[in-house]
Parts: sequence; C-alpha cells; structure tokens
Amino acid sequence: MTIRVNNPATGEFIEEVKIQSKEEVKQAIKECYEGFNDWSRLDAHERSRLLSKWSDKIQENKNSIAEVMTKENGKPLHESLGEVDYATSYIDWYAEEAKRIYGRTIPANSESKRIIVSHQPIGLVAAITPWNFPAAMMTRKAAPALAAGCTFIVKPAAETPLTAIRIIELAYEAGIPKSAIQYVNGSGRVIGGLFTDSDYIRKITFTGSTPVGKSLIKDSAETMKHVTMELGGHAPLIVAEDADLDFAVNQTIGTKFRNAGQTCVCANRLIIHENIVDAFSAKLKEEVEKLVVGNGMEEGTDIGPIINKKGYEKIVEQVKDAVAKGAEVLVGDKYDEDHENEAYFIHPTVLKHVTDDMDIMHEETFGPVAPITTFKTLEEAVEIANNTEYGLAAYFFTNDYRTGTYLHDHLDFGIVGWNDGGPSAAHAPFGGMKESGLGREGGIEGIEPYLETKYLSIGQL
Ligand code: SIN
Repeated sequence: MTIRVNNPATGEFIEEVKIQSKEEVKQAIKECYEGFNDWSRLDAHERSRLLSKWSDKIQENKNSIAEVMTKENGKPLHESLGEVDYATSYIDWYAEEAKRIYGRTIPANSESKRIIVSHQPIGLVAAITPWNFPAAMMTRKAAPALAAGCTFIVKPAAETPLTAIRIIELAYEAGIPKSAIQYVNGSGRVIGGLFTDSDYIRKITFTGSTPVGKSLIKDSAETMKHVTMELGGHAPLIVAEDADLDFAVNQTIGTKFRNAGQTCVCANRLIIHENIVDAFSAKLKEEVEKLVVGNGMEEGTDIGPIINKKGYEKIVEQVKDAVAKGAEVLVGDKYDEDHENEAYFIHPTVLKHVTDDMDIMHEETFGPVAPITTFKTLEEAVEIANNTEYGLAAYFFTNDYRTGTYLHDHLDFGIVGWNDGGPSAAHAPFGGMKESGLGREGGIEGIEPYLETKYLSIGQL
C-alpha cells in the first residue's frame, strides 16, 4: 500500500510513499523506545553538535527541499525557501537550548538537608504534523525533543510527506541515529491510535484541527501521556483609528494571504474602526488586486492552490453564505477549478459589511478570504475579537500607547502582534489559549514539555 503524492496546483503525480503496516509502525515505535537509552545519555553538547549538523545539512539542500515542498503543498517557491529557514531556525535555537537545561537548588527547612531540582527527558515522543508547514511544524517538535534527550517518531501529513522524509533522511546523514528519530506514513486515524495506545510513547505532540486534537487528548489519557496541542485559530486583526493605514494594509496582506490563507495564525476577521473602514478597505482592495494566483513554481506567484477539494469547498461555502447575508465583494469571489486534476484555486477575496450572523465570523476559513467588520469603541473591538472558542493569534494596529496596552491586556490569545503581522519566531513561545490548544512551542518554554522535573532531597549525610 502506498500514498500517491500529487501536486495540488496541477494534479500531477510526484512520488509514491510506502504506507507502513501496523506491525511496521509498532516496530518503529519499539526501535525509538529502545533508542532512548543511548540518545538520552549522550551528553548535551554532543546532542547540540548533531542538531547543528542537521541544520547545516538542511541548509545545504535548501533549494531541493523547497522545490519538493512547493510541489506537494502548492505554496509559492519563495515561501517554501522561507519555510526551510524557519524550520532550521528551530533546530538552531534548540541546539543551543540543549546546553541550558538547568536545574536549581532550594533552601531547605533543616540545616542538614539539601534539595536539588533537575530535569530529565520524558522518553519517546510521537508527533503528528500538518500539511500547511511540512518542514517547520516538524522541526518545531523534533528539535526540542531531541535537544532534551527524547527520541522522536513522526507521522507527517498524508498530503505532504515528502518534505518531512527528506528532512529526516538528512538527520541520518548528520549522524543522528535512526533509533533517535523515525517517520512512519499512513492513515492519521490508524497511526494516531497506535501512538496513543502504545505504552512506549510518553508524549503526543500534534498540530492540526481542534476535533482531532481533542480525540488525541482523550485517547492519551488512558496511559497518562503528556500532550502538546497546536490547534485551530480564528485570528482577529484590529485596526484602530490612529493606525498607519499603509503599514496596516501591508501587514494584513502578509498575515492573511501567506500560504493562500492556510495557516492557523492568519487573520480571519478584520475589525476596523468605523471612521477609517472606507480608506482601509480601498487600500486593501488596491493591494489585493496586485496578488498573482498560480502555480507556486512559477516566478511571481503570490497565491498557490488550496490543498484539496474539501478545503476549497469550505471556503467557497463561507463566501457564499456571507454574500447571501449581505456582504459586499470588494475583490475576488473568483475561482479556477480543474476537477479532472483536482486543482483548486481561489482568488484573494475581500468582503465588506460582514456581520456576526455570517459563518465566516465564527468558523476558521483556512483560505485567502478577508472579511471586514467595524467597531466604534475599543470595548466593542475586544468583544468581537474574543467572540470565538479559539485563542491562538490576534493582531492590532495602533501607535497609541493606551490603545495598545488596553488591547494587549484584554485580548484572550496566546500570540499578539502589535503593529506586527508576523510574530512567529523560533525564540518565542508559540501557542494558543481556549480551544486553540495546550502548551507552547518555541522559545525557552518550548523545551519544557519534553522534560520531567525531579527533585532530590538529601537528608542526613
Ligand atoms: C501554523 O499555521 O500552524 C503555523 C504558522 C507559524 O508558525 O507561523
């Protein structure tokens, strides 16, 4: 049995990937479990050196990895090149953090006692990674796991396994043993079940939809596994009356249309002060009209295809629903469908006069559609922004200190960009509140979920 990987821009067949049988997956889990002994005992400096070598190997192969990524995911080549850098930035960061897993001593309540706190790797980690960032979402999990001394097994998304496979093969070339990191391919449900059922695995880390995340958490409870969940988002983007409009529009384009809007952190609801909404909308329309839709391999492409028919239909439905309920299409609502080759493109779309009764205000879009609604007071902006079960990312634009601090204090989101449409970084703790997930990835926080805390209390000596 195999997975046939096709190019979502053309339907062209790229490569076939073997699906592991249940027995083979169990065997891979066992090998990584047994590998923990050696990997966790390697000193932190050696693990750090191996991670750095891995990062170098990926950079040496940057162009070919980016090409594979664009072919299997559809994103423009310049975005894939950027993602390779983003992916190695996690490995570089955690190669350093490997050497900084510090413990501490606690003053005890008796003169003869000593209390020493230390950390140890939690064991074998299993990851399930998404198709929208096939390189970076994998290294964001693998790098801290390996740095902490954990071993790692990953199931990449069935749509985009090739990037992850290339990257893991380079880990072997860098000298990281196969007993420390492996990939398995197959159905998410089957492999997810094998991961959650396994007594060998101590942690599940997942990036994907909230319903799947919830079911992984439930299934992990049986063996009390640790979990890190990066789930859905429905980011608000607020533009205050005083904001620099050209800058706000430029940043909105970046956050909204990157990867054809198929990111968990992309702006899903533009909440614009009523006194500037006409000026903002006109500028946004003008810039969006310049975006080029097409095959990501072609020079000049800004917006690639939607990953599959299901994703495409959901976006089209949201636009239809909004228009039926009174939204005005400023630009877009234009589609290129090639049913025979399963290639689906949505031209970047801006909708004005969007209201709370429209699906697009409550469901994650995962597509290049920007719905605009308005607010009068900051309280109202916050109420609209927080009116979602999600709490991943939020953005606001203002040069006023009071407005900025008010919004920062009141928005219930894990990542907040103030005059910043691109806050993601390896050195910062990425993650969400509410139904957007549990735990953080990146920064010093991102290694903690791979560590157990142990304390030693020395009594009388
Ligand atoms: C995501 O969409 O899940 C990740 C985006 C990012 O890391 O910036």
